[in-house]
Amino acid sequence: MNSELESVQQQLKGLREQIELYNYQYYVLNDPSIPDAEFDRLFRQLQDIEQRCPQLVTAESPTQRVGAAPLKAFSQVTHSVPMLSLNNAFDETEVKAFDRRVCEGLAGFSENQVEYAVEPKFDGLAVTLHYEKGIFKIGATRGDGYTGEDITHNLRTIKSIPLSLPVKAVPHFLEVRGEVLMLKADFSRLNEKQLQKGEKLFANPRNAAAGSLRQLDAAITAKRRLMFFAYGIAPNQDARVPQDTHSAVMAYLAGLRFPVARECTVVKGAEALITYYNNIAAQREQLPYDIDGVVYKVNALEQQEKLGFVARAPRFALAHKFPAQEAITRLLDIDVQVGRTGALTPVARLEPVVVGGVTVTNATLHNADEIDRKDVRIGDTVIVRRAGDVIPEVVSVVLAQRPKDTSTFTMPQNCPVCGSKAVRPEGETVSRCTGGLFCPAQRKQAILHFASRRALDIEGLGEKLVNQLVDNAIVKTPADLYLLGLLALANLERMAERSANNILAAIEKSKQTTLARFIYALGIRNVGEAIAKDLARHFGSLDSLMNSSMDDLLLVPDVGPVVAQSILDFFAEAHNREVIERLRASGVHWVENTETSPKLSENSMISGKTFVLTGALPTMTREEAKAQIEQRGGKVTGSVSRKTDYVVAGNDPGSKYEKAVGLGIPLLDEDGLKKLLQLI
Ligand code: IVH
Repeated sequence: MNSELESVQQQLKGLREQIELYNYQYYVLNDPSIPDAEFDRLFRQLQDIEQRCPQLVTAESPTQRVGAAPLKAFSQVTHSVPMLSLNNAFDETEVKAFDRRVCEGLAGFSENQVEYAVEPKFDGLAVTLHYEKGIFKIGATRGDGYTGEDITHNLRTIKSIPLSLPVKAVPHFLEVRGEVLMLKADFSRLNEKQLQKGEKLFANPRNAAAGSLRQLDAAITAKRRLMFFAYGIAPNQDARVPQDTHSAVMAYLAGLRFPVARECTVVKGAEALITYYNNIAAQREQLPYDIDGVVYKVNALEQQEKLGFVARAPRFALAHKFPAQEAITRLLDIDVQVGRTGALTPVARLEPVVVGGVTVTNATLHNADEIDRKDVRIGDTVIVRRAGDVIPEVVSVVLAQRPKDTSTFTMPQNCPVCGSKAVRPEGETVSRCTGGLFCPAQRKQAILHFASRRALDIEGLGEKLVNQLVDNAIVKTPADLYLLGLLALANLERMAERSANNILAAIEKSKQTTLARFIYALGIRNVGEAIAKDLARHFGSLDSLMNSSMDDLLLVPDVGPVVAQSILDFFAEAHNREVIERLRASGVHWVENTETSPKLSENSMISGKTFVLTGALPTMTREEAKAQIEQRGGKVTGSVSRKTDYVVAGNDPGSKYEKAVGLGIPLLDEDGLKKLLQLI
């Protein structure tokens, strides 16, 4: 090999290792050590070199996470060692019985002597990852436990899954098992986007993860942020793999940069198992991902082997599950609630029932179509579900237990609160009250939203207080909150002077806020927290947002025509502008962040550069990409020549792509372009 090529290869190796390390720090440890811009620079450098020397591109290079063409179908993978299930326990007696069986099976062990590795039970999808000589080769679903589907192309897009292992001395073959899931925060963001795009919402993070993994086109999976957690390996005799305990195997995997739950630990005896269960149950809501219980595994591998398996589950492990999140009860009536944007939501009034430790008396029925689809009638026996902190919902009717005297429900033609006409536009599922802020229900919700934790965060301004303030015509809009005095508050029912003072202090404190919170607090239809942040980042000041046009708004990532129209409609309303002015006059303020708003002409990566766009980009239209480039002083031309600085290639790119490769012109995919545009 000539020495020039060798030195390029060395450079590539160094860059790839650096990028892998930063990826690991970012996606697994959640602790990046370099600024994003520096990461992007390295990544681009790697891309550039690989473009110039395509023969040196390897499948495990960090640039190759999203492969080429979508698959036609999944192929099957037979698991070398079956992927079994776990026996379940739902209470302490069953846990104690498990420990007793383990002690008996190990003969000579008495209670409180056996050591267990304990871990969260992830509520995701089981996968297995094959590494050959340290390189990720095949990834598959669990399937029926014996054969699964080959989803390598999708798993490769998950940044927390290493494409190559960072250690030289790894076994020739290593099979890592674990769970793919979607973090709760990424799930909310995804659903917020789905809502804005008018697409179907995912019921929970597990379904969202499943839907994302089942894609034939890895480009779709790549857009959904998925996470992987390792929980074990297929038995492996290699001396480099710890042979003594499960906890040592987990530490080994963490050393190979696989994500391992922080909550994994080792305890002794049944009492300690139960304490662990209770501890994790108490942290459940705060964990960044959903879990449905904890798993106990006899720690010593030798003991595991001795205990062996019964049917399809190991004797050495147990899943201690949280109580069911579903319950059966009777639907007593259906009421209609009016939301902040006037949406009329049918709500089921239920015979109280305990679901996962919480008493549920109301559950949402979403909308009239859902009621029809599920054929829910008043008087029915229904299944209700609670998941995490979301509103309980009616899942289905138990038809076998339908009483004779049920009655059907029809959506009212008028708002049940203010009597205004309710309308349901063609093609929409939701009926809305047309009363606007004339409707006390909408007014109350608007004020509650304004004061909510993620908006202006006015502590203590809850539903009861807002009801009184609105019903007594003391507060009509959020701006009136800043005119409240001690007298008005202290005169309200059940309001001592002390709590009135606390609320006034909280209102005062809320005056100092951020632009993103303020935009979110306005309650513009279709503008959730994530979009509000994008808008604040993009425009940098409220005035530039208020004066923006449809075209300006469409340049914001994730803002489509529907969201943009909602924003325009909101600011077109004189009443809304007046409320904003009054809020500002009362002293509500934030730091106008001109720095984060793109200084469009100063992006040196783009200014003066020539781009060629080819193929369909996954999320941006060509017009959008062009506008974004031009805003920053770049030029977009139609054909590739030596003068072209970048070629942006989407799906099915065609001859321009080949020409770019031939001329050694740097190629970007959509993400690469977005990074250059500083959109991500
Ligand atoms: S160990 C021999 N550990 O639960 C069984 N499984 O019912 C090996 N799961 O489909 C499984 N978290 O995907 C194990 N910490 C954990 C787990 C876990 C979730 C899932 C697993 C499997 C199911 C077993």
